[in-house]
Amino acid sequence: MQTGKTVASPLILGIETSCDETAAAVLRGRAILSNVIASQADIHREYGGVVPELASRHHLERIDAVIDMALRRAGVSLDDLDAVAVTRGPGLVGSLLVGLQAAKAIAYVRRLPLLAVNHLEGHLRSVWLEHPAAAFPAVSLIASGGHTSLYLSADEERVVRLARTRDDASGEAFDKVAKLVGLGYPGGPVVDRLAKTGDRLSVRLSPPKMSDGSLDFSFSGFKTAVLRHARARGLDRRFPAGEPDQETRDLLASFQSAVVEFMVKRVMTVAIRERALSIGLSGGVACNSLLRSRVAEEARKAGLESYAVSPSLASDNAAMIAEVGRRLLLRGEIADLAVNADPGLEF
Ligand code: KG4
Ligand code: ZN
Repeated sequence: MQTGKTVASPLILGIETSCDETAAAVLRGRAILSNVIASQADIHREYGGVVPELASRHHLERIDAVIDMALRRAGVSLDDLDAVAVTRGPGLVGSLLVGLQAAKAIAYVRRLPLLAVNHLEGHLRSVWLEHPAAAFPAVSLIASGGHTSLYLSADEERVVRLARTRDDASGEAFDKVAKLVGLGYPGGPVVDRLAKTGDRLSVRLSPPKMSDGSLDFSFSGFKTAVLRHARARGLDRRFPAGEPDQETRDLLASFQSAVVEFMVKRVMTVAIRERALSIGLSGGVACNSLLRSRVAEEARKAGLESYAVSPSLASDNAAMIAEVGRRLLLRGEIADLAVNADPGLEF
């Protein structure tokens, strides 16, 4: 295996299969040449959430075609690559293994450096990949279906986690609430759309109080409060016909607003306390229109820059994985071909 040959702008293939998106991307340096994402949402929708066995099987069926497409769209071939980067965790073990095997095969056959990437670091860096001029210190919120954490970065190297969720992730709360009122998976996008025609002041949902003054997140209380309200009002329908009624849309708007304001408050508290100069939003929930506009508004009021990544870089993607890989390559942190998936990898 080649070890980290020094190339100013290496050509890196990224591969991501940690959950239900089969993704591959090609970066030259920090320039995204292609970013292919094959979503499995249609497959998991009828089950109301990701079914791990189905996810790994579909990754297996699609991975080769997705990699081919990423190379073709980038106008390069395997011969041109300088390295292969792949997510090694956290995520579903069966899904992770598919990407890891594909990356190992390419690295072995082409004698390329293998770069084993933490998925969450990918989400964090997606903001700076898209907005390289973002100022530091920076506060970053990663809000996704599996994680919701807050980080402070003195610069691109020095990153510390300040808070995480103690129970559900924010995206998980969106998904569970959507399922509760009979809407499909993933719930975030549909709640976002329906909340636009609902009254966010109709149902009062209080944010959790942390008795120890911690900045940690907690979303399960919002979900339970929605469940109680929906049951009391008969809104917890399994298969409602047509579009949800006004009362359901009011409840969804109230839920979305409560969850978003809770996250905005945490982000702004940390940003001001730590004298941050910019705020970054990443992860699937960063697609939420209310979260994007509220963070932008509060950041503007406080005189801070704010960056919410574009949807193609917010949800799971392989461009962010290639970007972390690029940094590992620069540091010479090449993975052994025996590297294993780590479903519980921390960041
Ligand atoms: O980052 P991501 O694609 O996968 C994980 O790493 O989990 O995030 C997926 C999550 C899902 O829970 C989905 O419902 C949520 O992001 N999501 C949204 C929106 N779009 C996606 N949540 C709220 N509003 C949205 N517009
Ligand atoms: Zn993710």
